[in-house]
Amino acid sequence: MDAPTYLPLLNSIAVNEAKGQCLLNAWADSTRDTQLAAVLRFVAIREGEHAMAFEKRMCELGHAVNQQSAYQFFKNFDEQLAFLRSNASDAEKVTCFRGDAPRAEGEQKDPFRNFLADTTMDPLTGSLMGRYVCEERDSGRRLKAEYDRVCGAAPRAAEIDELRACVEALQAEVSKLKSLRSVA
Ligand SMILES: [Fe+2]
Repeated sequence: MDAPTYLPLLNSIAVNEAKGQCLLNAWADSTRDTQLAAVLRFVAIREGEHAMAFEKRMCELGHAVNQQSAYQFFKNFDEQLAFLRSNASDAEKVTCFRGDAPRAEGEQKDPFRNFLADTTMDPLTGSLMGRYVCEERDSGRRLKAEYDRVCGAAPRAAEIDELRACVEALQAEVSKLKSLRSVA
């Protein structure tokens, strides 16, 4: 039986998800930011599970994972791994990691939009692919929120407290004015 036309896609996912897991765990191990570490570990678990699930599906279809023929999503994997393990700041690591995996909405087209385009895909592989794509998009959103926080794009707690105090002062001023009007 001929290999399915979508086999190279399954192979590339299996190979790159395993690498993604490695990179995210390396970063989680080296950061002091516990909130960031929790998100990195959560996404790493997903990456590892995706690698195993796609390898398993390939085995069920009668094929083994082939590292050599896989599309290499991480062009400088060894350097990236060393950098993520290093004492560089989390903001620097965001820049390093985002370079290879920009998933921000609006910044680029959804990289997963064609993953279900092959109409010959069998239903079992298709259901795995659908779950995979939706989980990847969700992981991308979770990582983006953390990257924005780490890089200071998200409002900090101190800024929120400041704004809250400002609103309270304005409310007090308005009620003072109201009471003056009612006296007049
Ligand atoms: Fe992934």
